[in-house]
Amino acid sequence: MANSIYKDSAIPVANIDGAEFETIAVRAGHQRTHELEHSEAIFPTSSFVFNSASEAAARFSGEVEGNIYSRFTNPTVQAFEERIAAMEGGERAVATSSGMAAIMSTCVALLKQGDHIVCSRSVFGTTNVFFQKYMAKFGVETTFVELTDIESWRSAINTNTALLFLETPSNPLCEIADIAQLADLAHQHDALLAVDNCFCTPALQRPLSFGADIVIHSATKYLDGQGRCIGGVVVGSNEIMAEVFGFLRSAGPTMSPFNAWVFLKGLETLSIRMRAHSESALAVAQWLENKDSVDTVFYTGLESHSQYELAKKQQSGFSGVLSFRIKGGREEAWKFIDGLQFLSITANLGDTKTTITHPATTTHGRLSDDDKTLSGITENLIRISVGLESVGDIKKDLQLGFISSGLE
Ligand SMILES: Cc1ncc(COP(=O)(O)O)c(C=O)c1O
Repeated sequence: MANSIYKDSAIPVANIDGAEFETIAVRAGHQRTHELEHSEAIFPTSSFVFNSASEAAARFSGEVEGNIYSRFTNPTVQAFEERIAAMEGGERAVATSSGMAAIMSTCVALLKQGDHIVCSRSVFGTTNVFFQKYMAKFGVETTFVELTDIESWRSAINTNTALLFLETPSNPLCEIADIAQLADLAHQHDALLAVDNCFCTPALQRPLSFGADIVIHSATKYLDGQGRCIGGVVVGSNEIMAEVFGFLRSAGPTMSPFNAWVFLKGLETLSIRMRAHSESALAVAQWLENKDSVDTVFYTGLESHSQYELAKKQQSGFSGVLSFRIKGGREEAWKFIDGLQFLSITANLGDTKTTITHPATTTHGRLSDDDKTLSGITENLIRISVGLESVGDIKKDLQLGFISSGLE
């Protein structure tokens, strides 16, 4: 219909060649339709029609580019993929139905039976379970190592090691790894380095620029930023992403167009949100650090943190997530959480609303006791994802926690 009114040349295109990060975050990947909409369109369609049988055949064979079926191509999802690829400085991105689907798609697409993964011990609990329980079932074994100790990575690498995997900063202890050093190590052994960049997002850290091969996101977190949708994305070179895309097309852990649209809107405010989250988290971390009833605060934005200099080198901010150990055990930690008035007791993070969780019994609850001990997931550990409410109000609420736990 619209084709009869406008010629292609009538569609204004925003030229952002050479633009800076904030501009890319707002505008990259947007292909206007003939309706000339200003905000990105949502295409809630399962399939796309062809003008003829021969056109259908040409699209299916790849001879002619174009949409076929939304399991693997959809314009709204593609806009999100192009924008996040540009933001991470990667050639191509593939969006997935969740962050775990992004991790699964990367592993299944790039690894084969008999390959070996070296993974940081300090990863999201479900990532740990996925590697140990499910990748192992298909003959891919994982060795878990200390995130911050390069020697433990080096000594875990075997001749069949194909992938090094880490989160930096890690969940929930906010430890960080030197990405450039690990990328060198991986490449010396012909392995790939994948970085889960969930905590920093490309607004604060771009792992590909330090030599990582693959960036993974749970888009569910800061990319959305308001706790609405589940999604994930993998970013890397055209060569690597062709494999991940091939898996997505065959197996179908696809992002929905509606979710892609929500994430596109989230990306537009990402830079400004990440700056605000980082500023508020630092204020909360400094306040917690001065409390007698707090044993340790884990936040690399604190100058007292042993990895502060490294964080400053590879991040342009410190993110909104921090954790701390109170002087007590599970009972005090639960009383602390139950005593709060408005902070949300929920496992998600990266939301405008501040969230609080007890990792040992929630996000990391499926780890064995030994794995918890090795990963520092103690019963007195509490994680907060500092939101965008007033810092004064957040501190007041946390103060209620200290009182109700009997610590103050
Ligand atoms: C660091 C990190 N990576 C991956 C995931 C998994 O993402 P999703 O819940 O979107 O599958 C999470 C979820 O909490 C996470 O915190």
